[in-house]
Amino acid sequence: MIDKQILAEKYQAIFGDETPRFFTAPGRINIIGEHTDYNGGFVLPGAVDKAITIAIKPNGTQLVNLVSIDEDEATVFFRIGGPQPKEQWASYFYGVIEEMRKRGATIGGFSAVFAGDVPLGAGMSSSAALESCVGTALNKLFNLGFSKEELAKIGQMTEHHYIGVRCGIMDQFASIFGQKGHVVRLDCRSLEYTLVPFDPKGVEIVLIDTMVKHTLASSEYNVRRAQCEAGVAVIKKYRPEVDLLRDVTIEELEEHRAEIDPEAFHRCAFVINENKRLMAACAAMEVGDYEEVGRQIYATHEGLSVEYGVSCVELDFIVNIAKEHKAVLGARMMGGGFGGCVIALVKKEGVADYIADVKQRYMVKFDKDPRVIEVEISDGAREC
Ligand code: GLA
Repeated sequence: MIDKQILAEKYQAIFGDETPRFFTAPGRINIIGEHTDYNGGFVLPGAVDKAITIAIKPNGTQLVNLVSIDEDEATVFFRIGGPQPKEQWASYFYGVIEEMRKRGATIGGFSAVFAGDVPLGAGMSSSAALESCVGTALNKLFNLGFSKEELAKIGQMTEHHYIGVRCGIMDQFASIFGQKGHVVRLDCRSLEYTLVPFDPKGVEIVLIDTMVKHTLASSEYNVRRAQCEAGVAVIKKYRPEVDLLRDVTIEELEEHRAEIDPEAFHRCAFVINENKRLMAACAAMEVGDYEEVGRQIYATHEGLSVEYGVSCVELDFIVNIAKEHKAVLGARMMGGGFGGCVIALVKKEGVADYIADVKQRYMVKFDKDPRVIEVEISDGAREC
């Protein structure tokens, strides 16, 4: 998390005011359960100690006055109820405000300075962190009374309506509900969740960023979602009560295979199997069997790469190296895909070796240094 003092000084220097309030919201990791959220399935994310932090205060006007430290202190103004700003980073603010207004909130202008240490484009949900941070701050400052669940949905709908990504609820939910030392086992259909202690003795979470920037909005994510919906539409002809892949079995999908576009069939099969892998991983975690969790994680990568088609050569390369290291229990790409990072569960004694091996071979193969990101599972959005 960014040092609050830095934001306080910037705020004072830019707005001549020493009394903003501070809010922070984290990025996330996800142990297993990828591309299941928008299919009503289960996910297992955790909030991390990398976050977006904001210094913010109402300014008594209808103007929103924003400074992004990470964009060379770029400034954007917009009027509440006015047109959407063209800068994407400012659109996250605009979207959250508009989604709150749609739900009946009255929000005044404010001045804000923000910065973050969630790596961008690494599959760690920097955008959900920003949405959750803005939502949590406005909810408090203007006494809006939105529940945490509503805040998560407001963030998700910001993506849908103002950014153009039809994402699920995992990232915003994890950023808001996360708790130190726990992962969140979330049923994305009912939004019921359980905080599961995550304490794999002697095993570390290692994140290695390919430094290949993914752009989820660049359509492929939405294409995957549409392919899942196309599969559901076929099943729905036979069982009208089915709205989500969550309710479809692999046998049922097979039964209607001939009617489903072949590519869509593989996408749907992946999602159904991914839900099963998540269940198996959760059962294994309960009895402390992280070797089994690791096996499920490897299988998830295989599925994401072959069936779901969202990996890339750089991600596959890092996962394949993992398989040569006995200390690595499991490794896979994390998040939406097409770049970003690999998450690996590695026995402590083998962490340094695995990282050194990846760094050396990755440089030779791709002429690029991958970035190792250290994370701890931490608390969700809050005033700080
Ligand atoms: C992105 C989306 C999430 C989820 C993941 C894939 O992070 O924002 O809703 O679909 O991809 O699991």
